[in-house]
Amino acid sequence: MKTFKNKVLEATDFVRAKITDRPLIGLLIGTGLGDTADGIDKAISLDYKDIPHFPISTVPTHHGRLLSGKMAGKAVMAMQGRFHYYEGYSMQAITLPIRVMQLLGVKTLILSNAAGGINPLFDVGDIMIITDHVNLMGNNPLIGPNMDEWGPRFPDMSQVYNRKLTALAEEAALENNIRVQKGVYAGLPGPSLETGAEIRFLKTIGVDAVGLSTIPEVIAAVHGGMVILGFSVITNMNLPDRVKPARVEEIIAVAERTAPRLQAIMTRVAEKLPV
Ligand code: HPA
Repeated sequence: MKTFKNKVLEATDFVRAKITDRPLIGLLIGTGLGDTADGIDKAISLDYKDIPHFPISTVPTHHGRLLSGKMAGKAVMAMQGRFHYYEGYSMQAITLPIRVMQLLGVKTLILSNAAGGINPLFDVGDIMIITDHVNLMGNNPLIGPNMDEWGPRFPDMSQVYNRKLTALAEEAALENNIRVQKGVYAGLPGPSLETGAEIRFLKTIGVDAVGLSTIPEVIAAVHGGMVILGFSVITNMNLPDRVKPARVEEIIAVAERTAPRLQAIMTRVAEKLPV
C-alpha cells in the first residue's frame, strides 16, 4: 500500500513532467462553473483519470480535467471539477490535488462553488465573496499524523480568506459592473439538502450561504501556506419560512449562467495579482 505522501509525490511528478509553466495561482472550479476555465489560454489539459492516484469525479456536471496555462498572463493551474465528501471520497483523496498544487509551487488558491443562499438579502445568481467559513462536515483533512514538511500541526484559521484578495475581487467586480455579496460559507457533508430547521440553525449561527464542498480543500491549502480567495455562486435561496424544494437542474443552470461573470472577476483578479 502506498502512503498518501507517496501518492501525492507520484501525482506531482507526473503533472510536473507535462506542464511548461510553473503555476503560482491555483483555481478550483465548482458545480456548473467549469466554463470559468474558458479564460485560460493555451491550456495543457490532463484528464484526472490519466493522473496517478487522482480520484475521478462522479458528478456529471464536473469536467474532471487539470488545466495548465495562462490567465491574464499569469501561470495558473486549474482543477475543472472537484471531489466531494458525499461521493464517498476520503478527506485525503479530496485534498490530493491541493497537495499537488502546493508541491508545484502554487501560492494563491482561488476557489468557487455553488451554494444555497441563507442570507435573505441575497438573490439567485449572486456571486458571494467568502469572508469566512464554518466547517460542519464532521471531518477534517488534517486528522491523522501531521505531515510536518507540508505544514504545521495546528494551522491558524483566524483569517483564512485573504483580505487583500477580497479587496481585489471587489474592485474587479466593480470594474466589470458586477454586483457581489460578501459572507460566511458553511460546508455540510450532504448529499441530502437542508431541512427547514437546519436552514434556521444556519441562519442563527451567522451563515450566509451553504454548500457541500470547499472546506476540505481550503483547510489543506491553509495548512500548505496558500493565500485564499473563495467565491460562492448563489444558485438557489434557502429561506426558512418559505421552504421550497431545491432542484438540482435549477442549481446547475444558475451556476452555468453565472460562470461568465465569475470568469470576468477571476481574470481581472489574476491580472491585478502582484505575482
Ligand atoms: N444546499 C447545499 N448545497 C448547495 C445548495 C443548497 O441549497 N445549492 C447549491 N449547493
